[in-house]
Order: sequence, then C-alpha cells, then structure tokens
Amino acid sequence: MCGIVGYIGSKNCVPILIDGLKRLEYRGYDSAGVGILDGGDAKIAKYAGKVAVLEDNIARMKMDSEIGIGHTRWATHGEPNQVNAHPHFNSDETIMIIHNGIIENYSDLKIMLEKEGYNFRSETDTEVLVNLIDKYFKLGNSLFEAVRRALKKVNGAYGIAVIAVNEPDKIIVAKNGSPLVIGVGENENFIASDVTPLIPYTRDVVYLEDGEIAEIKKDSFSVRSISNKILSKTIESVEMDVDEISKGSYPHYMLKEIMEQPESVKNSLRGRIIHEEGLSKLGGLIGFEERIANSKRIIISACGTSWHAGLVGEYMIEQYAGIPVEVEYASEFRYREPILCKDDTVIFISQSGETADTLAAMKEAKRRNALVLGVCNVVGSSIARLSDAGVYIHAGPEIGVASTKAFTSQLTVLALITLMIARRKRMSSVKGREISEALLQIPDRMKEILKLNDEIEKIAEEFVDAKNFLYLGRGFNFPVALEGALKLKEISYIHAEGYPAAEMKHGPIALIDENMPAVFIAPHDAIYDKVLSNIEEVKARKGKVITIANESNGKISELSDFIIKIPKTINMLTPILTVIPLQLLAYHIAVKKGLNVDQPRNLAKSVTVE
Ligand code: G6P
Repeated sequence: MCGIVGYIGSKNCVPILIDGLKRLEYRGYDSAGVGILDGGDAKIAKYAGKVAVLEDNIARMKMDSEIGIGHTRWATHGEPNQVNAHPHFNSDETIMIIHNGIIENYSDLKIMLEKEGYNFRSETDTEVLVNLIDKYFKLGNSLFEAVRRALKKVNGAYGIAVIAVNEPDKIIVAKNGSPLVIGVGENENFIASDVTPLIPYTRDVVYLEDGEIAEIKKDSFSVRSISNKILSKTIESVEMDVDEISKGSYPHYMLKEIMEQPESVKNSLRGRIIHEEGLSKLGGLIGFEERIANSKRIIISACGTSWHAGLVGEYMIEQYAGIPVEVEYASEFRYREPILCKDDTVIFISQSGETADTLAAMKEAKRRNALVLGVCNVVGSSIARLSDAGVYIHAGPEIGVASTKAFTSQLTVLALITLMIARRKRMSSVKGREISEALLQIPDRMKEILKLNDEIEKIAEEFVDAKNFLYLGRGFNFPVALEGALKLKEISYIHAEGYPAAEMKHGPIALIDENMPAVFIAPHDAIYDKVLSNIEEVKARKGKVITIANESNGKISELSDFIIKIPKTINMLTPILTVIPLQLLAYHIAVKKGLNVDQPRNLAKSVTVE
C-alpha cells in the first residue's frame, strides 16, 4: 500500500526520492509523486501510473532541492488519477503532505473547513488534513504544533510527512496505525514507510510508534507524543543487504523468491533444532514455553497467505500437541466479541508485520489478556514489536506481491512451534527426531522440486487461456489448495477456487467439464486412496487433471493429464513442498499472459488499511 519517502540534507533529494519510490513499488500503488521546497517556492510533480512515468516527467522539469518528500499511492478515496495523487498542497500551496492510511472523519472535517473558506481540488481525505494543518499554522503555531493540533482532531490511521515553505529546514512526520521509520544519516536524515528505501544510505533507524510525532532536521531529530510529551527513542541497526532487495539476474522478484526457498527455509531453521533430542529451540519464546504448552486453546489469526499458513498450523498443532486450535481471519476476529481468556494463546502470523487487520486483532487479543505471539518476517515491524513473544521467520525481504518464500518459512516456523509444544506434552524423543530430521532435509527436497521449473513452464503453456481453475487437496494439503488458487488469482487474474477434495461433490463438481482444469495435491499420505477417488470423479466428467504426487506411475498416471512428481517427506511437512509447483504454475501462466507478476493490478504487498 501507499509508500512514503523523504529526505533532508545537503544533496539533491530528487534522485534519492525517485530511487526510494522504486524500492517501494513492491508495496502496490497506482500513482506516484514528489514534492520539494525550492527557495520560497514549493513544487509538486505527480502522475497516475508507475514511478517511471514520474521519473520521465521530472527529467524535463527543473527540480533540485535539499528537502523533499515522495509518495506512491494505492487509491482509497477517489480514483487513481493525477489530482488525487500525493503530495497534496494546502489551498495557497505553501504546505504539502503525503499520507498513508485513512482519515475516517474526513467528511465532517471537510464540511467544517469549507465553511471557513477552504476549497478542495481532489477527492482525498489527505487534502482535508493538509488544510486542517494550514488552519492551525495560520493561527501562529509552528509547523510541528500545527500538525500536532490537527492530528488531535483526526480519527483513523495515518503515516504522514509534511513540509512547508515557511519552515524549510524540517520534515514533520507522525504515525498512527500506518508504519513510519526515520533513517538517521550523517548530516542528512531520511524517512520512509519501511526500511527498504533507506538501506542504500543508512542502517541506523528509529521506528515511530503509534501516537508519535517527530521533527526531522538535517542534523537532528526529536520525537514527542501526540500529547506533547518529549520522548527518547533508541536508534536501531537494520541488518539487510542491498543485494537482498534487488532482482539479481531473475526477470521477476517472484521467481527469485520462489527459487530462494531452499535458502530461506534453511534460514528459518538455522540454530533452532537440537536434532539428537528431537527438540526445537526458539529464542523468541524463551520464558513462555510452559505457558504456551499449557494453553487450553490456541487461536491463529492472520490474513491472505499467512492465514493459509495458519490453517496448516492448526492441523500440525492439533495432531501432534493435542491442543485445540482455531484459525480465524484477523478482519473477522477484530470485529466480533471473541471469547478469550488468559489460558488462551493467540498466534498472529504476518509477513509484513504491518497488516492493519492483523494488528488491530492483536491489540484486541492483548486487551483481553490472552498471550499474544507474533510470527513475522519483517524485523522490527509493528506486529513483531507489539507481541508478548514471537518468532521471526527469517525469510529475508519478500518483494513480489504474491507471497511465496514467506509462506514456506511460516510453515517451517509453525512446525518448529509444534515440535516445541508437542515435546513438552506427549511427543516422544523418537518422534521428535523423526520430525527434526525431516525438517533438516526439507531444503534439499525443495531444490529437487525447483529443478522441475522447465517442466512446469511447459504445463503452464497448456492453460494460459483457461478461464477457471479448481485446486483440490485434503488434510494438510487442503490449505495448500487454497494457497494454490490464491496464487493463480492474484497474478494471472484467472478465477480459481480451492476446496477440500471431498467437498467437491457438494457443489464445485457442477462446474467440471472439458474446459475446467483441476489441480490435485495428492502426496502419498494416509488419505491418498481417497484423493484418487476424487480424481476419478473429475476424470469421469472430462475435467483436465494436473496432479502433484510422489509417484508418476500406476493408477495416478492413468488418471492425470499432467503429473508433477515431487519427493516425499513426512505428512505434516508436505505443504512446504507441494506448494512450490503451484507457485511456479501460477508464475508461468501469468508471465505467458504478459502480466506484471510482481505488481499485480489492485493488490498491495502490505495492506495497511482495513
Ligand atoms: C496482502 C498480500 C498477501 C498477504 C496478505 C497478508 O494481501 O498481497 O500476499 O498474504 O496481505 O499480509 P501479511 O504481511 O500480514 O502476511
């Protein structure tokens, strides 16, 4: 979702802002803009479409300044056109703002400001906020104080940055619900909505918390609470390489991230298995193990792909640790009256650690005194910081909008958590060793599957024109069916549904004819024979069958039009392997359709609004 970047120092900010916006493209957006202060003037350049359009246009303008802000907008209020793009000016074009989030009471504020003579050019909530700031600025307040007073009138979520002609030596930023980080440099400072644009310039960062507002100058910064209390903030160091956030030799981030999975899963496992004892050791849960293992119930809450990982977690934990597990969409959890008690553990899974619904659900669970754990990828993210304890998945930066390596690392961490709980409860060391050994073998098994890339690309060719797809799996692989369907939908815009294979007869079977491809996830597990019967049912109705299986002969080969043969592992870990061919299938179909797989239409990587 919206990306924010800003610079104040002694260099020309424009190339820095453009570079930053490019690094934020992965978040998903539909227009982009930059604004600078130039002597007594303020200039804005903004366009619908990609950052490249903005860059081309800026090349023809004279824009050079030591202070500026930049933005990629994911439309909420008003369509993605030039007028609605950020930055937004106040009426007399002396203050400008960029904003990520939603101002919920913007229409009341707009009516009030209109009565006072303010005019609006755009349909956005953001333009309302900059004029509200203008109102307080004109009353004689400093820019900082004007922003602070305006924000006290605002309900909703925001990460904002504001600059003004009359105070050209500072950027004011504030956060509530949407992420904002300050990059601390030497004689220069930066701001951004996540650390990726900062990495080429500095590793020293300060994360703003909700309800904080900061004044950033070239050589200093100060932070206060919205109630005006001076706060002292810690500068943290980010461990990330520029290489990690570049595509390298790959045509797309998504393919790079699919191919990286043996390494990212290895990183998720690193130092976390004591194989001789069949145990897992999770540093972030130290001191909480007993409480987790004694939970009466575990609830897993998340959105999107992370929610699918949660479903696999449910199967893992219930089967091996014997604790009842419920999995709930964070967006639902937050708006009902969930019955929670102090004996419950709630695990929130989030790649970005910033998803607004997940964050709000987490706050609700904390309010109700449950133990709150975070399973996040982005180090220092809001969800990671807010949890009582947690485990980083260490998948490394995931830039492609469609989540791939984060999913397999989430599953890996859920398996480690299962092992940790189960060994404290009823699991023997022999069984523990079986799981830990299988986990350690997973990266090599993944490498074998990735060798099938060309074969899967050929299969993809057959389905480029498909209009619908069905994904079917059972047990541990039912959530993989959902995830396979989601991947295809997200990047190829083909309608796809995931179902538990046996549920097919209760509805989706009506859709099957010779034009309907059905992907079966059928590893050789306890319910393999049942899945074979489900495949027969599709075949009998002339459906096209693609099967992910451990063998490529016998009955399954008679029934399948295409078989993707993958190596074996223990049942609970099969999803970490079976999902890979589905990621590749979706990827190749989308590429063959000529679509932008890394930035699919309408989607955002980090969904920071409800
Ligand atoms: C967005 C992304 C998905 C992701 C979901 C949850 O919809 O496009 O890929 O699975 O958000 O994100 P999170 O960062 O909380 O895992």
